Amino acid sequence: MKRTLSFLPQKFKKGNMVHDLIKKRYSTRTFSEKLIDSDIILSLFEAARWAPSGGNEQPWRFIIAGKNDPENYWKIFSAINEGNKLWAINAPLLVVGVTKLERGIDKKLNKYAFYDLASAVANLTLQATSKNLYVRQMGGFNPLIIRELFDIPENFEPAIVLAAGYKTEESNIPENLMMREKAPRQRKPLSEIVFSGKFGTPADLVKQKEEEQVKEEK
Ligand SMILES: Cc1cc2nc3c(=O)[nH]c(=O)nc-3n(C[C@H](O)[C@H](O)[C@H](O)COP(=O)(O)O)c2cc1C
Repeated sequence: MKRTLSFLPQKFKKGNMVHDLIKKRYSTRTFSEKLIDSDIILSLFEAARWAPSGGNEQPWRFIIAGKNDPENYWKIFSAINEGNKLWAINAPLLVVGVTKLERGIDKKLNKYAFYDLASAVANLTLQATSKNLYVRQMGGFNPLIIRELFDIPENFEPAIVLAAGYKTEESNIPENLMMREKAPRQRKPLSEIVFSGKFGTPADLVKQKEEEQVKEEK
């Protein structure tokens, strides 16, 4: 019988060769109000800037607003969904991730526009983690409001909002959100996502590793 390995605990095991920054990163909702130094904020966008992109188009753009820039902070805040507002209100920095939809002089559709923005956000997030900061991304926002408030041209798309800040153990977020915050994190096992030979067939090296892990669990 084929064993399903999905019961393996969703945590990092000894021998998982994953960098500490990746282990540490998670999307907190328990932000502290502590402001972030401007040099550190700049380092996040420096990291984003060095991401790879199709044809080196660098389609990413970022609109940033710290709580010390209340006018713009509340503009971004006004566009996010009510459920997100409950925790995002504490974050000292909000960022809108925008991407350019066309490329080249003939203005062809850039099919990598969102892919590349996400890659820049991944860089930004790991840089943030290295500075003891946390980032939670939000798809739950109204892009029309953002477009209007920040005068975003038609060939650019506001794709994501990020909340960033330090974490606190004394958060005032509602109890139901705190429970979700503390719930175990879930991930698909490698055998569901890494294939060889045929789509859907787990790669041999993944099968071997997961079988070893099952033995260790016993
Ligand atoms: C594209 C995208 C959209 C997301 N939208 C929201 C959102 O609107 N609200 C929210 O609370 N979390 C949102 N998240 C955070 C995810 O729920 C979170 O990354 C996921 O549960 C995995 O948790 P982890 O990042 O802590 O590993 C979003 C993440 C991504 C990448």
